[in-house]
Amino acid sequence: MRILSGLQPSGRLHIGNYFGMMEAALKLQHEGEAFYFIADYHSLTSIHEGKTLRSNVRDLAIDFLACGLDPEKCVFFRQSDVPEHTELSWILSTVTPMGLLERCHSYKDKVANGIKPSHGLFAYPVLMAADILMYDADLVPVGKDQKQHVEVTRDIAIKMNETFGQDLLKLPTPRIREETAVVQGTDGRKMSKSYGNTIQLFEEPGKLKKAIMGIPTDSTPVESPKPIEGSSILALYQLVASPADYEAMVADFQAGGKGYGDFKKRLLQGITDYFAPFREKRAELVANPEYVNKVLAEGAEKARAVARKTLDRVRQAVGLGD
Ligand code: TYM
Repeated sequence: MRILSGLQPSGRLHIGNYFGMMEAALKLQHEGEAFYFIADYHSLTSIHEGKTLRSNVRDLAIDFLACGLDPEKCVFFRQSDVPEHTELSWILSTVTPMGLLERCHSYKDKVANGIKPSHGLFAYPVLMAADILMYDADLVPVGKDQKQHVEVTRDIAIKMNETFGQDLLKLPTPRIREETAVVQGTDGRKMSKSYGNTIQLFEEPGKLKKAIMGIPTDSTPVESPKPIEGSSILALYQLVASPADYEAMVADFQAGGKGYGDFKKRLLQGITDYFAPFREKRAELVANPEYVNKVLAEGAEKARAVARKTLDRVRQAVGLGD
């Protein structure tokens, strides 16, 4: 079984990325042949500062390794080290109906959030289809916001197969975990950098405390029971706490007598404890840049060998080259 997924290096890793995609991806690296990558071509649709993009790629590589990605078990690479992705993307774009892309929510959301509507942003799902189809992926672990993109990928693969021959490209399936399909941010909406409601995994302690103590709450008096439904504090706590600790917090919400400040402190402790081992690993990786370079270089080589084969197969089918 082939597993593939990617993350954009468009900012620091947040809890939504971790529980929405990474945790599942890390488990799957032991269950099949996994390819995980840093989607830096994609981030060019929102970052136009070379230095920033390059340092984000580095940070994300370190973060992913710190969370437990094992480069012996899976192929970990930077998308732009495999430029074959862009060629496949072009070929796919020639069979992709405009209407398919016009229906993509992600494009509309991004434009509504102030990202400039460039051709690259519009064609973003085609490049993503190339990422996935390049590796004949069976499973794509993602959060719910990427589901439509994987469906578009299937549609493009079907179109390619109808046009150039059945079995040319494999149809992937999205793997979305119900409980963490949409991780809430500090304001109750989906956690997303563009909403400014994220909690970063490797946030420095002072800022982490500020972000959590700043979670907006209602004005229920300390002595009264607090509403459970829609509480960001509880939703986030459930991700990091043991079931018993979570149940205890729910009971305290219902009983009254404790204020939100108390619950936020417990949440802060929960998040800090949960990610503490990753933080330690991260510090080691920061101190060892050669190792990170080596991992990415080896990953690129392995990914490229697979990509080259698929691209040759597709070029042959569509009539490019000899
Ligand atoms: P990106 O970088 O926005 O997000 C990376 C992963 O994190 C998930 N995610 C969430 N899951 C649950 N709740 C949230 N609040 C939340 N926020 C983010 C995303 O669903 C995603 O799985 N287009 C992709 C990157 C990409 C890709 C690919 C993914 C490029 N090529 C090929 C899979 C396969 C993206 O922007 O993800």
